[in-house]
Amino acid sequence: MIKTLIRGTGRYVPERLVTNDDLSKKMETSDEWIRQRTGIEQRYWVPEGGETGASDLGLEASKIALERAGWKPEDLDFIIFATLSPDIFFPGSGCLLQHKLGLSSTPALDIRQQCTGFIYGLATADAYIRSGMARRVLLVGSEVHSTGLDVTTRGRDVAVIFGDGAAAVCLEAVETDEPVGVLASLLFAEGKHAASLMLEAPASRITPERITHEMLDEGRHYPKMNGKLIFKLAVTRLPELTLQIMEKAGLTSLDEIDLIIPHQANLRINQFYQETLKIPEGKIYNNIQKYGNTTAATIPLALDEVIEQGRFKKGDTALFLGLGAGVTWGANIYRHAEVLPSR
Ligand code: ACO
Repeated sequence: MIKTLIRGTGRYVPERLVTNDDLSKKMETSDEWIRQRTGIEQRYWVPEGGETGASDLGLEASKIALERAGWKPEDLDFIIFATLSPDIFFPGSGCLLQHKLGLSSTPALDIRQQCTGFIYGLATADAYIRSGMARRVLLVGSEVHSTGLDVTTRGRDVAVIFGDGAAAVCLEAVETDEPVGVLASLLFAEGKHAASLMLEAPASRITPERITHEMLDEGRHYPKMNGKLIFKLAVTRLPELTLQIMEKAGLTSLDEIDLIIPHQANLRINQFYQETLKIPEGKIYNNIQKYGNTTAATIPLALDEVIEQGRFKKGDTALFLGLGAGVTWGANIYRHAEVLPSR
């Protein structure tokens, strides 16, 4: 049977460190409020001036992941790029990254699944690999939020949450009957909540042009969030989702999972989740304190850190899960292994 294994991971965050105190100079907020409500202590944003897009951060993360996999860009036969903050409206950041990697015809697919971008991306890559459509896939989650935030008191509920960053994983087909690699994925969406977390403009549905001066004045080109609703949906659905995906993967107890990497939207969401399922400390990994919410990048960024720290070893089983704009929610169960690639 064909299985999907992770061969290399990489992460990249820009150098500009933005602390909560830095934000409190731009808007009415405080380090105390941000830490208490979200757990966030700092985030990294792209430099002011110049042009740094999601594909640029993704490129740096991809180079590291490729090197760790021992691959050259030419070894890839598919690129999946997950972002809600593409470099430009179109074409997709995956195409821009493909060119920056020096490739000329490797297919590149962008997915717009926001906080579940990595989860949807891993499920998609796994489906491509298991169907024989691809053998070596680069999956990237990358966001440049900072250039699209209302960094004034009007936008403070959203602006304090988000950070810029990218992470990439190299995925490969292996032929084995062992229960390794991506064991299960579960994906959901509920479009009725679309307006609860939305960037409204520019948009093709707005006539006669995609944005008006009035909309700009009203700040409708910034993301708007019903934080309380998203919080409530997350703390109720993530525990349910955990039990659903365990059943799908044939796991009967949380003891069979060594590591849980939840999406990093708010530390309090993850603490509620942990308490609900009585997950022991040490089994769940959070790093939102350092990076804020880097959306499609949060899970691979955390995965790269735990691998580096030796906390996710060959033979270990991990659960990735999250909920975000769409709303979408989903999970993957992945068992790390050392299996030679099939040729
Ligand atoms: N600093 C200081 N005060 C603030 C700030 C801020 N940055 N933001 C809001 N406030 C104020 C509000 O104006 C409000 O004041 P009021 O009581 O005088 O009206 C008060 O603080 C409380 O605001 P709430 O919105 O009720 O605060 P809450 O405890 O709900 O926390 C938060 C807000 C952090 C946004 C929370 O709701 C949350 O994290 N929700 C989930 C976010 C999430 O998961 N998003 C999905 C992922 S993102 C994606 O998919 C792209």
